[in-house]
Amino acid sequence: MSAGGTLVVGSGLVGTGIARRLASAGDRVTLVSRRPPALPVDAYGARWCALDATDARAGRRLLGRLRPDRVVLVHGPSDVTWCEDHPDEARAAHVGVADSFAALAPDARIVMISTDNVFDGRSAHNTEHTAVSPANAYGRAKLAAERALLAASPRAVALRVSLVYGHEPADAGKWLNFFASCAHRLRRGEPVEAPDDQWTTPVLVDDVAEVTTALLRAGEPLPPVLHLGGPDRVSRAEWAGVIARALRVPADLVTPVPRARTRYASRPANACLTGELLAALPAVEGITVRGVREGARLLAPAFTAAPAG
Ligand SMILES: NC(=O)c1ccc[n+]([C@@H]2O[C@H](COP(=O)([O-])OP(=O)(O)OC[C@H]3O[C@@H](n4cnc5c(N)ncnc54)[C@H](OP(=O)(O)O)[C@@H]3O)[C@@H](O)[C@H]2O)c1
Repeated sequence: MSAGGTLVVGSGLVGTGIARRLASAGDRVTLVSRRPPALPVDAYGARWCALDATDARAGRRLLGRLRPDRVVLVHGPSDVTWCEDHPDEARAAHVGVADSFAALAPDARIVMISTDNVFDGRSAHNTEHTAVSPANAYGRAKLAAERALLAASPRAVALRVSLVYGHEPADAGKWLNFFASCAHRLRRGEPVEAPDDQWTTPVLVDDVAEVTTALLRAGEPLPPVLHLGGPDRVSRAEWAGVIARALRVPADLVTPVPRARTRYASRPANACLTGELLAALPAVEGITVRGVREGARLLAPAFTAAPAG
C-alpha cells in the first residue's frame, strides 16, 4: 500500500480489528478516538492519536499531516440504547463526521462501517436491494450518515455489517460484544438468558477486517452500499448454545427466553444481512466469511486460556 496509509476513525472492537489486519499487511495505520484504546496499538504496529472526530478543525489539522489514501469510519456512538435516548447527538455525530471526512479527504477511498439497523427487522433476509426503513434512532443516524457520505464522496462505500464478535479480555469490565460477554459468563459457570426470537447473522471481527481491507485496496469502482453478514442465521439463544459447546461447558447454562424479557426488547426481531453484491465482487474473491461454529471453535482457546475469574 502507498505512503499515505490508512486513517481509522474509532478504536473500538471493529476499528482495532481492522487496524490490526491492515498493519499486519504492512500498511501505515493511524487510529484515532477521544480516549486511548483498551489494548496498546503499537503491539501490532499501528499508532494512535487523540481526536474528537466531530471537531472539524482538529480533523483538518490531522488530515493535513497524514494525507491518508484510505479512511475507515468506525466511530461511535454505537450503543443503540444511548442513541435512542440522545437521537439528536447521535445523528449529529454520525452525519457530522461523515460530512467532514468526505470534505477533508476528497481523493481517499472511504469505507464507513454501517449497520443492519437501517432495516426495521421485519424481513429475515436483507440484501443491498432491500428498501431501508430504520426502526430506531441509531439506524436513522447511520442511514443519514451513509447518505451524507455517499453524496459527498464518489469513492466512498457504506459497508453494512451484522452483529460483530471477537475476543475481549476477562478484565475488560464491560464486554461490548455478545460472544465475549456470553463466553466469560459461561466460563464462570453463570447462567445466561438469551432470546430465542431474535435472529442475527453474526460475523467474526477478523472477517470484517479482511473484507474491509479488500475493499480499501480494490482498484475497480465499487457499489456504494454493500452488505456483510455471516453465513448462519441464528437466534441469540442458539448462538449461546454453540458458544457453550465450543467452551465445553454445560449447554443447559443457557436458558432461551422471549426477547421482550431481555435488554434486547426494543431491538428488531431480525438483524440479518445478505451480501449479494458483495459476493459477486472480484475484490473479495477467495475470502471466506466464517459461520458461528467455526468462529466459536477459533475463539474458544482465547477464552479458556485465561482464569475463569
Ligand atoms: N459492533 C458491531 O456489532 C457493529 C455492527 C454494525 C456496525 N457497527 C458500526 O461500527 C462502528 C464501530 O463499532 P464498534 O463496535 O467498534 O464500536 P465501539 O466499540 O463502541 O467503538 C467506537 C469507537 O469510536 C470512538 N469514538 C466515539 N465517538 C468518537 C468521536 N467523536 N471521535 C473519535 N472517536 C470516537 C470510541 O472511542 P472514544 O469514545 O474514546 O472516542 C471508540 O473507540 C460503529 O459506527 C457502529 O455503528 C458495529
